[in-house]
Amino acid sequence: MNSSPVHSSQTSIHADLERLVRKHAATEYLRPIPPFSAAVFAEICGTVQQWLQEHPSASIVLDSCCGTGESTAHLARRHTNAFVIGIDKSAHRTKKHGQLEHNNDSTETRNYQVWRADCEDIWRLLPTLFREQKIICEKHYCLYPNPYPKPHHILRRWHGHPLFSHMLALSAETEMRTNWRVYAEECAEAARILGYTAHYQELSIDAPFGDAMTAFERKYAASGHTLYKICMTKQHEFS
Ligand SMILES: C[S@@+](CC[C@H](N)C(=O)[O-])C[C@H]1O[C@@H](n2cnc3c(N)ncnc32)[C@H](O)[C@@H]1O
Repeated sequence: MNSSPVHSSQTSIHADLERLVRKHAATEYLRPIPPFSAAVFAEICGTVQQWLQEHPSASIVLDSCCGTGESTAHLARRHTNAFVIGIDKSAHRTKKHGQLEHNNDSTETRNYQVWRADCEDIWRLLPTLFREQKIICEKHYCLYPNPYPKPHHILRRWHGHPLFSHMLALSAETEMRTNWRVYAEECAEAARILGYTAHYQELSIDAPFGDAMTAFERKYAASGHTLYKICMTKQHEFS
């Protein structure tokens, strides 16, 4: 269960962060959507449309990189007026969802579902669903994404990725969590560069870790790591 804290030769915000964030925000991301992702997206649309027929005032909560979907089920209990979409690209992890102890609601009544898919594709497709169904994503969570601590891997961190501005635009409020302070600092700074209000704070998850939302959160907390929550919100738009 014990895990080592993140080790990196990078101890503060990457010198290239601002240049990258601005360049990416000004560049269109052209990778074609693969048929597999389009098929998963069609499934998501069908499920959400059906949910909306019975719950017309529902909103969406998005749980990106949800792993086994433990957090997705947790968020569904917390956001009872929302339908929670959990996405993770690992079949190994998403398959485990059915085996989780807490997953005992029936598929018909539960207000969430976990799909195996690549966020890079689903994030680009979701605005169409939100527009067509006139539905809002009230909160976007992305908990403990891979930190990629080597300095030259900054492009793999979500805030260094070409789709970061797209990721933030999905919801008025985005929350990320990490066990690496530099990730939290950089992510909040990248969001501010894009005009968001952003801050990070330490998160305390005490033994016996019943409050942990995910398997990684429980493992990191049990190993004594400092955990951080990054909150990013859209600034008010003045007309
Ligand atoms: C460190 S794990 C955290 C999982 C979970 N949120 C937790 O806290 O237990 C990072 C997760 O991100 C997922 N992931 C990485 N890149 C992804 C992508 N492009 N699309 C979807 N999932 C991705 C991985 O499959 C992995 O499950």
